[in-house]
Amino acid sequence: MTDTVTIYEVGPRDGLQNEARIIPTADKIALIDLLSASGLPAVEAGSFVSPRWVPQMADSGDVIAGLSYDHATRFCVLIPNLTGWSAFWRIRAAMPQGPDEVAVFISASEGFSKANLNCTIAESIDRFRPVVAAANDAGLGLRGYISCVTDCPFDGPTPPTAVARAAEMLRDLAPMPLSLGDTIGKGTPDTVAAMVRAVLNVAPVSDLAGHFHDTGGLALANIDACLDLGLRTFDAAVGGLGGCPYAPGAPGNVATCAVIELVEGRGFRTGLDRTIIDKAAAMARAMRGQE
Ligand code: HMG
Ligand code: MG
Repeated sequence: MTDTVTIYEVGPRDGLQNEARIIPTADKIALIDLLSASGLPAVEAGSFVSPRWVPQMADSGDVIAGLSYDHATRFCVLIPNLTGWSAFWRIRAAMPQGPDEVAVFISASEGFSKANLNCTIAESIDRFRPVVAAANDAGLGLRGYISCVTDCPFDGPTPPTAVARAAEMLRDLAPMPLSLGDTIGKGTPDTVAAMVRAVLNVAPVSDLAGHFHDTGGLALANIDACLDLGLRTFDAAVGGLGGCPYAPGAPGNVATCAVIELVEGRGFRTGLDRTIIDKAAAMARAMRGQE
């Protein structure tokens, strides 16, 4: 079992997408450049979704075009459909260096699929099929997200078998690592462990990441449970950026520094420069007007 834990930084996308205030593109670029200087292996830099649905991500093209690409960090963008792919590729194809990973995202529950993507789970898979094919043709990496892995704000508790089925649907499109998202932060170590065990029937542990929103304050306990089951990749957001549209005022994604403390406390290495992460966390808090 590896003694390294990979932290996948999602703050610039999953965190900032929830911010109501307009954050200047230059500030996003400065934050992401700082994050990549910290040794983070992967940073999600933005998304090519509808600006009507998520206005804060409307400048993702300018963000990816403005990054310095000075470090070994891999950058990822979230893409919901071919329209998003075309918008991304128009910019990326002209760049010597740029994001080389595309994330597609489905829900394990129909209620959230409708709310987040305006379609059923099966329809979302159909929309992702050409995106996955285009990314493959372009030689880019893939990542698959599954939302509402323990609970859905519309449908209630999610059966673990539904998450395993969603995992199979994504991996039928193409082999890809999967990030298991507790979207509304309602999971507990027990429900998370039951869900992970179900997914392990269809995907190897090395392909799984935990993605915890800290709405219920159990994100770290849930990561602990996942570590016990062998997961070694966790998504986190610098400064705990983010929030949940269904729980106003609730904490956002689990904070990157909290995950570092937890896993290093358990004897794992992250290879991250804490001084730079702390500086980035202060920058993220300032962006939100918190200091
Ligand atoms: P729709 O309204 O059903 O789309 O939205 P449509 O195909 O009917 O098109 C309507 C209009 O949107 C058209 O423009 C399209 O061109 C445009 P019009 O002709 O009316 O002028 N459009 C787009 N514009 C820009 N970029 C695009 C795009 N697609 C269509 N890609 C859609 C469907 C998927 C677009 C919408 O539902 C959407 O953007 N959803 C994304 C929502 C989102 O970003 N959610 C947050 C990310 S997921 C997440 O946070 C969970 C995660 O963190 C894990 C976890 O925590 O669980 C990953
Ligand atoms: Mg999320």
